Amino acid sequence: MIIRKFEPADFEGVLEIESVAFSEHNPFLYMNFYEMNNEGFLVAEEKGYIVGFVVGYKVSDIEGRIFSLAVREGYQSHGIGTQLLKSIIGVFRTMSLKYSSLEVRISNHGAQKLYKSMDFIACWIEHGYYSDGEDGIIMKKQLLLQ
Ligand SMILES: CC(C)(COP(=O)(O)OP(=O)(O)OC[C@H]1O[C@@H](n2cnc3c(N)ncnc32)[C@H](O)[C@@H]1OP(=O)(O)O)[C@@H](O)C(=O)NCCC(=O)NCCS
Repeated sequence: MIIRKFEPADFEGVLEIESVAFSEHNPFLYMNFYEMNNEGFLVAEEKGYIVGFVVGYKVSDIEGRIFSLAVREGYQSHGIGTQLLKSIIGVFRTMSLKYSSLEVRISNHGAQKLYKSMDFIACWIEHGYYSDGEDGIIMKKQLLLQ
């Protein structure tokens, strides 16, 4: 398995994963991310097959936001999510950012466990963050102290 920058030919694979992983979809957003923010769009590839992706972008001079992280069903629980997370944090570090932030559904205990294992701390709850009314937890990780 390798992690590399997204290329337009990966779009179909990314959308396949995204459509299963998330209930809110926005395919155009992903092409915009590629066009505007090539550094922070990474894919995990296994023998030519896209098995996961992460999108992160710089929101301020100090903060990198992880917008989206997903691993293809059947490939989960093999450490790919962890590797993608480590890789995007590495990108943020090269940008000299001080914090990484993300939001996660309050019901998504698996993802929260992954983020906590990577030293993300739950900071506050955004009530009704998602379009279906579910609350989101904002989590942050300090980047420069390690
Ligand atoms: C969340 C997600 C990206 C994790 O990817 P993954 O490749 O399965 O994660 P890893 O194999 O690296 O897991 C690392 C650790 O995270 C935790 N974890 C991840 N998914 C979990 C789950 N569904 N249930 C419980 N713990 C989970 C575990 O502690 C795991 O370590 P372990 O396997 O030694 O117990 C993947 O499950 C996914 O794509 N889910 C759907 C989309 C999603 O929820 N994205 C996050 C939105 S904020």
